[in-house]
Amino acid sequence: MAMTKPGTRPANPRFSSGPCAKPPVFELTQLADAPLGRSHRAAVGKAKLKAAIEGTREVLGIPADYRIGIVPASDTGAVEMAMWSMLGARKATMVAWESFGSGWVTDVVKQLKIDADVKTADYGEIVDMAAVDYDTDVVFTWNGTTSGVRMANGDAIPADRDGLTICDATSAAFAQDLPWDKLDVTTFSWQKVLGGEAAHGMLILSPRAVERLESYTPAWPLPKIFRLTKGGKLIEGIFEGATINTPSMLAVEDYLIALDWARSVGGLNGLMARANASAEAVWNFCAVNDWIDNLASDPATRSNTSVCLKFTDDRIKDGAAFAKAVAKRLEAEGVALDIGAYRDAPAGLRIWCGGTVETADIEAMLPWLDWAFHAEIEALAEAA
Ligand SMILES: Cc1ncc(COP(=O)(O)O)c(C=O)c1O
Repeated sequence: MAMTKPGTRPANPRFSSGPCAKPPVFELTQLADAPLGRSHRAAVGKAKLKAAIEGTREVLGIPADYRIGIVPASDTGAVEMAMWSMLGARKATMVAWESFGSGWVTDVVKQLKIDADVKTADYGEIVDMAAVDYDTDVVFTWNGTTSGVRMANGDAIPADRDGLTICDATSAAFAQDLPWDKLDVTTFSWQKVLGGEAAHGMLILSPRAVERLESYTPAWPLPKIFRLTKGGKLIEGIFEGATINTPSMLAVEDYLIALDWARSVGGLNGLMARANASAEAVWNFCAVNDWIDNLASDPATRSNTSVCLKFTDDRIKDGAAFAKAVAKRLEAEGVALDIGAYRDAPAGLRIWCGGTVETADIEAMLPWLDWAFHAEIEALAEAA
């Protein structure tokens, strides 16, 4: 029996986990004010870069004494720049619960070869952050984009730690509350929660992180692209918009527009509420359908941005093939694009619920997921 297709389609089927949907009001014509063909070091360019930094501070509520820099190579660039510049001064603890965190473990253990305690949890689980020694430098990912598991809060991180906390917050910033006093280095990229363009990384440093940079010189060479100090002093210009190398002024303009949109929906609180509403719609869908479940085992650690789901129906024998087929069906209908689980993650789906996604679109898409699931189950039965 062929299932009837739902009558409504999401207005925007873009639920990718990065690059993420542009803000709902976005139009290319809004980029017309970008100072294209001008030097980023001209007054107009510098003003735009400074506005991107200060807008970030304002919307995210970053303390006045924290430095915010725009750096090359997106979030990866920002995380690696921090690790290469600051680690090695003391023992490290590398914490990972999905593939990006695991990538940072590889960097530190195999490339930098630093003495590190490695703590990992399986997809869907989280490491006990209270069991970490915060007198070591601790590297972790706030929101595991590929497992849909996030830190519930920063309570486990003590205020009087001796080590630095280095936090990859790329799929958390602008959707989750980040406790700045517990974070010494925080990174994110524009392409995630605000739906900006992938190009530059944001590097946010506490005064303690700056102190490390000014008091410690790593034993390994640092490429120019990673250098944050000169003559033992922080290069302050980087944190005022004088970027290390040439930025894309088009991407900067796009980020400024995204920040404006963020302000228009109520700033950080508004963005968090939007993500929560969309994620809750998916969680409620899982609660009433016994064939699908959240990959995150503990509701307190469920992501409100990268919501990862697994199929739990016994009739499914090849989970990866099934999930792929469902995602393909939804894509073919034009109702959900790019929602297959990450290549290294367990088979399933990943539905982005960050603030640029409209909850109405999530709600319009979910009946299609129900349809696609049953259509695939029927196809399995027919093939048997
Ligand atoms: C947690 C996490 N870290 C790092 C990255 C890499 O980000 P980028 O490609 O912006 O460097 C991603 C991208 O999805 C991510 O989700």
